[in-house]
Amino acid sequence: MATSVSVARKVFADRIGRIEVSATMAVAAEATKLRTAGVNLVDFGAGEPHFPTPRHIKDAAIAAIEANFTRYTVVPGIADVRKAIVERHTADFGSDYGIDEAIFTSGGKLALFNTIQVLIEHGDEVILPVPYWVSFKDIIQYAGGKVVFLETDEAQSFRITADAIEAAITPKTKAIILNSPSNPAGSVVTAEDLERIVTLAQERGIYLLLDECYVYLNYEGKPVSGGSFTWAKEHIIVLGSLSKTYSMTGWRAGYALGPKAVIANLSKLQSQSTSNATSFVQKGAIAALAGSQECVADFRSEFIELRDHMLMRLAEIPDVTCTKPGGAFYVYPNVSAYIGKGGIKSATELATRLLHEGHVVAVPGEAFGTPHHIRLSYPVTKETIDEGTRRMKDFLLKLT
Ligand SMILES: Cc1ncc(COP(=O)(O)O)c(C=O)c1O
Repeated sequence: MATSVSVARKVFADRIGRIEVSATMAVAAEATKLRTAGVNLVDFGAGEPHFPTPRHIKDAAIAAIEANFTRYTVVPGIADVRKAIVERHTADFGSDYGIDEAIFTSGGKLALFNTIQVLIEHGDEVILPVPYWVSFKDIIQYAGGKVVFLETDEAQSFRITADAIEAAITPKTKAIILNSPSNPAGSVVTAEDLERIVTLAQERGIYLLLDECYVYLNYEGKPVSGGSFTWAKEHIIVLGSLSKTYSMTGWRAGYALGPKAVIANLSKLQSQSTSNATSFVQKGAIAALAGSQECVADFRSEFIELRDHMLMRLAEIPDVTCTKPGGAFYVYPNVSAYIGKGGIKSATELATRLLHEGHVVAVPGEAFGTPHHIRLSYPVTKETIDEGTRRMKDFLLKLT
């Protein structure tokens, strides 16, 4: 007779317990609830451009669907999309990747996620400058890696220096993550600092993961890429995204450029998970990367205007200070003067009350590793900036 033995088994794997739901998504979900209940919100939460995807990109994807380009493709993306990625990067930054050093992915986040899975073992250290984009920390922890937080100085616009990175390196350091211009503070690594950091990575045999999601939204001059330092290619992995550059967030279009062996392993992992990124999205991506780049320049100029407008309005709120972002499309004001007022004990509480009482969506700084800030995303109209900052001012000044 069969006997059944009941064994207490845990349901979830440890790795899923090591990460949290992305804070930006959590804020968006809370805002959606209020909106559904009829509340009129000013939304500074969303991390995406407000422009429609340019016409020529949409047309290319529509034409691909009409031509029945709707089947599986090779896992790393068709040769033409990989060619478009490397040619764009070479034209803009003087890099010299071949198509077998490129992979097209379903969004930049997946390129990052898979790169970390492929490179990071339990106990490996990954240096991450603070403030950081939320997902970096969780993705490293999911892989079992140890995040080594690198504090930066707000008075120096959160500048990341090679000296600070060198001081954080230990024998266990496997990788360094740089995101320039950065989310959330818009800080930019200078060309000189970048070259010194690349040199360090090359000398110490450490991988430099360069998240270039906002590389074209650099307001301090010509964009720079670590990919230009071709002599250090073996230690550099460029993580790119079409989301913000071409206003294609929902398309899920990203890529990685790096040493052949790393790309082959990314492809291997992708072959057992998402397989190829959507076929007709690849055609849209070719149109974006190989077509006219005028839209990129137009978006950039509009973002500069919006940034300046946002900074001007924030300066009108007493005791809120803000570094001038050199790129991306966020401002990262310091609201510490209001923490401690009106029973508010943290930036998270401030953002929650600002949402419910002031009807403004902002992401609290704890999600980015600093407890005294909130992140405001400014791809909205100037009128929306005026209204949102007016609401913020009213809300903050009422706190006693
Ligand atoms: C710093 C950074 N890297 C990567 C991404 C991922 O972009 P996507 O997955 O849409 O390509 C984002 C999106 O917000 C980001 O802010």
